[in-house]
Amino acid sequence: MNTTQYIGTPLSHSACKVMLLGSGELGKEVIISLQRFGIEVIAVDRYENAPGHQVAHRAHVIDMTDGVALARLIELEQPDLVVPEIEAIATATLLELELAGKTRVIPTARAAWLTMNREGIRRLAAETLGLATSPYRFADSLAELQQACSEIGYPCVIKPVMSSSGKGQSKIDGADEVAAAWDYAAAGGRVKGGRVIVEGFIDFDYEITQLTVRAVGADGQIQTQFCEPIGHVQVQGDYVESWQPQAMRPLALERAREIAKKITDDLGGLGVFGVELFVKDDMVWFSEVSPRPHDTGMVTMSSQVQSEFELHAKAILGLPVDVSLRSPAASAVIYGQHEAPAIAFEGVADALQVPGVDIRLFGKPESFARRRMGVALAAAADTEQARSLAKAAAAKIKPVIV
Ligand SMILES: Nc1ncnc2c1ncn2[C@@H]1O[C@H](COP(=O)(O)OP(=O)(O)OP(=O)(O)O)[C@@H](O)[C@H]1O
Ligand SMILES: [Mg+2]
Repeated sequence: MNTTQYIGTPLSHSACKVMLLGSGELGKEVIISLQRFGIEVIAVDRYENAPGHQVAHRAHVIDMTDGVALARLIELEQPDLVVPEIEAIATATLLELELAGKTRVIPTARAAWLTMNREGIRRLAAETLGLATSPYRFADSLAELQQACSEIGYPCVIKPVMSSSGKGQSKIDGADEVAAAWDYAAAGGRVKGGRVIVEGFIDFDYEITQLTVRAVGADGQIQTQFCEPIGHVQVQGDYVESWQPQAMRPLALERAREIAKKITDDLGGLGVFGVELFVKDDMVWFSEVSPRPHDTGMVTMSSQVQSEFELHAKAILGLPVDVSLRSPAASAVIYGQHEAPAIAFEGVADALQVPGVDIRLFGKPESFARRRMGVALAAAADTEQARSLAKAAAAKIKPVIV
């Protein structure tokens, strides 16, 4: 393992090798940033020609929840760093390999393990660290869920403990909706028919992602730095729009960063974290945290001097980072709209005519109606203007079947 000592030459005995576990649009951008430093990158995903596969030195297709297959691949490739990009990974295997000194997991194997299950991170945040969260209960059956919902009260939100992007998640207003929510969660979780969390509904004014970076400072110690807060809109638990900076009252911002510092200090390691928080007046609730770049942080490709992907790449290599804002900006998601392989995109030139706009198309081999296939970015004098420009640009892009 050489990452703390030097960056070598890729594809040689001195190479610094990084393996991405998950190679979607976020991984792709991290890989591009790593490539700029001559890092040898190995991209792993569960399907062929994933976005990150297309920009890495080598690509592998495995079931990353299969611990034996994952250990075999890490043994074969001998990466200096393993960088999880998704939650659905055999994190127990990562814990073992890290403990045995066979690789280093970013930020730590424990962080990947805790955050793959809502129960692990929620209990840590609320019960160990004493952070404010929504009230919550866990349930393993419909009967337990009915009991849990009556204790929490309505409205409440029900989610499989293992799921992301809003899958299997529902908000309900009364006891008559519990059974449907149970069925929906049972079908939508990564483990079918598994455990769920019930959360009291927080009637927040707005929600933010507080990107938090742990990187080595000039004194050789790990320092915590905060990006400007990112505001976002979620539809059915999936992000559709984000902007930076989100205006916040000073006390709310201070509290948000206090929470972000506590949770990231505990998770440890190096890299970017996306701390998701709900805000109402001066009150701030912890929701969850990604120990990696966050989808709502795609806006930083326009808004920051260094995007969250560049920050992650630099931080994990032990290099210094700059979290400063360059301009207010916004992002708007471009969906596939079709269920088809190998779609094409019309209107890209039109979209790029919108002032301050840039476009990313991820190159995903197959489109689904609600699959994120690209993103429109817009920088402007303020976030309101940036949001309308980003949405206007996204609307000009027409996915078509060719
Ligand atoms: N307790 C709650 N009260 C109010 N809104 C909530 C609550 N829990 C979730 N939401 C809403 O649903 C969104 C998605 O929830 P959450 O982040 O827990 O799900 P997720 O599946 O992990 O989504 P993602 O992977 O996109 O972050 C939140 O960003 C928020 O808008
Ligand atoms: Mg979330």
